[in-house]
Amino acid sequence: MNHMKVEKLNAKNISAALSLINRTYADVHGFTPLTESDWNVEKSASCFLGFLDEKLVSLAYGPIAEKDKGHVRWACAQENFRGECYTLLPMEKCITDLKYNGAKQIRVDSWLDAPYRRMLNHFESKGIHVEHDHLLMRLDMRQYRHQLPALKSGYTLRTFRSGDQATWANVKNAVFGSSSEPKAFWKQDFQGVKMTSDFDPEGFFFAEKDGQPIGICAGLVLHNRQEIGGTFPGSIGWTGILEGHRGIGLGRALMMSALNYLDDKGIKITEIGTQFYRTAAVNLYESLGFRIHTASFNLL
Ligand SMILES: CC(C)(COP(=O)(O)OP(=O)(O)OC[C@H]1O[C@@H](n2cnc3c(N)ncnc32)[C@H](O)[C@@H]1OP(=O)(O)O)[C@@H](O)C(=O)NCCC(=O)NCCS
Repeated sequence: MNHMKVEKLNAKNISAALSLINRTYADVHGFTPLTESDWNVEKSASCFLGFLDEKLVSLAYGPIAEKDKGHVRWACAQENFRGECYTLLPMEKCITDLKYNGAKQIRVDSWLDAPYRRMLNHFESKGIHVEHDHLLMRLDMRQYRHQLPALKSGYTLRTFRSGDQATWANVKNAVFGSSSEPKAFWKQDFQGVKMTSDFDPEGFFFAEKDGQPIGICAGLVLHNRQEIGGTFPGSIGWTGILEGHRGIGLGRALMMSALNYLDDKGIKITEIGTQFYRTAAVNLYESLGFRIHTASFNLL
């Protein structure tokens, strides 16, 4: 990273910065493209751009959101320049500035670079604690091999049947400690899921032990999202196995069933939301080829 140059946002580089943000976050759910007129650079904001051989490759932008708190809204690296944490230098400058302006804690939303663990190690080595929050992982389906592993004796998989809403809610509540009611099944909203258009019983899977449901996982085509790579994005939701049945391959088998469903639909990119502390889930997803795409966290 020696030949990287960091520049503060100024009148000459602002349109390149804007265009980098718009390109990088274009297909991230919830992002609205910025125009020159609506990007009112906030007075308290720090914004630094990273150049590699004169080419803009990364930036970090963050204002003081409220007293004592900084908020890095965008910290991203240009596609084809991810994997080297080129956001780190602009972020460090931004953080120093925000701290100088009184921030004691900094929220980073939708960090879009890689690899996550290198960024973590970097901050931790400087005595900055990273408090993990939400991760969005993506799988390029061209790398996915359609398959289904064998299950242990007594275990079976099946798709959703009419009247299964209560069964789904019961397993979900037992796994995640939630208190969903069956009627909430039709009101899901994450990553742009709209159950009325996206629910397909063929993509919703149960794992059963001797006929009793003990695990769930859903594959969904997100029809209300912008296309990514030529198709609507796919999504995986609610992957969970009851304690007592974990560690014997059921999570992997359910995930693969959902991915096979999406693969059959020709989906090009599949997303999954999770948290970094869910080690088993993150390991499972990475072993299937998912990679962290965006991450939100607090720097303390
Ligand atoms: C995540 C979860 C679904 C995995 O299901 P599972 O049936 O136990 O997983 P499998 O036996 O199929 O294991 C698949 C992979 O997960 C990872 N894994 C599973 N258990 C693990 C553990 N205790 N520690 C670390 N990694 C683990 C491994 O990579 C494993 O692959 P391997 O067996 O080749 O090493 C299960 O742990 C679970 O229900 N957790 C609680 C709910 C949850 O966090 N869901 C994810 C929501 S985003």
